[in-house]
Amino acid sequence: MFFPEYRPRRLRKNENIRSLVRETIITVDDLIYPLFVCEGKGVKQEIRSMPEVYRFSLDQLIEEVKQVVELGIKAVLLFGIPDKKDEVGSSAYAKDGIVQKAVRTLKEKFPDLVVITDVCLCEYTSHGHCGIIKNHTVDNDATLEQLAKIAVSHAKAGADIVAPSDMMDGRVGRIREALDEAGFTDVAIMSYAVKYCSAFYGPFREAAESAPQFGDRRSYQMDPANIREALREAYLDVQEGADILMVKPAMPYLDVIKTIRQEINHPLAAYQVSGEYAMIKAASKLGWLDEEKIMFESLIAIKRAGADLIITYFAKKVAQTLAKR
Ligand code: PBG
Repeated sequence: MFFPEYRPRRLRKNENIRSLVRETIITVDDLIYPLFVCEGKGVKQEIRSMPEVYRFSLDQLIEEVKQVVELGIKAVLLFGIPDKKDEVGSSAYAKDGIVQKAVRTLKEKFPDLVVITDVCLCEYTSHGHCGIIKNHTVDNDATLEQLAKIAVSHAKAGADIVAPSDMMDGRVGRIREALDEAGFTDVAIMSYAVKYCSAFYGPFREAAESAPQFGDRRSYQMDPANIREALREAYLDVQEGADILMVKPAMPYLDVIKTIRQEINHPLAAYQVSGEYAMIKAASKLGWLDEEKIMFESLIAIKRAGADLIITYFAKKVAQTLAKR
């Protein structure tokens, strides 16, 4: 059927008709809110390159989470900024480590909130790499043992889901084994299965003080040029026992999201990362883009590509905006 019999504009006539035929919507149920937590009291420190994103001490974290829970957000993803760093990142699995304390506090105050923890070493190591350094390189198998300890320590604190973001080979399987051995068979794993070595993480590294002190992450994070490799990574994580897969970054990698969605039936998350957020914020601040519109359009695009869940620094703002509609 062609024009004039078929006129696509008929279904665009007004908002009610448009909403009837709309294929994709964003709701608060889709959103995971990332939060940075640090030691101290009364700290709510804005991150320079991420306006309206803060480092929170525990007392301030509670205030923030109270608001987002009231807005209907169901899940948070925690990143820790420890006071002490060392060669092996031991504060990442300390019983009174910053994330462990945050998880305990949040689960106590908000028992229904889904608490997800980032499992990685880069915020905790003095060299800023995501693993143990041996012979000037990140040693895969030695790192697996550290990651297993971190995941179990998060589970002990009460985490519902652990999210390994290190990109070591075999980490999902090793973490699953360690969680099960420790009796945490019902703690889920959301794996950063397809994590590219991306310059879009720049602002995050400022926020988390986790930039590598030498070299870069290209020997463990994926080459942005590859998509077949993304599928190999995703299949491996499924085999190793991942419950949710993640693609990261999101918007520049919509083809990857779509491919994984078509090939694999696991729930799929996408991470709209710090650089994506910072670009939108910066352009909006200059008056070059409409922040609210771009925020929704970017998230719709990510969901349309096939993501079930979206991790975004805009989560609170989206929830606030939806609540007003
Ligand atoms: C830790 C980690 C990073 C991000 C999430 N977990 C940084 C990195 O790999 O350097 C980036 C998130 C963002 O940019 O918002 N490995």
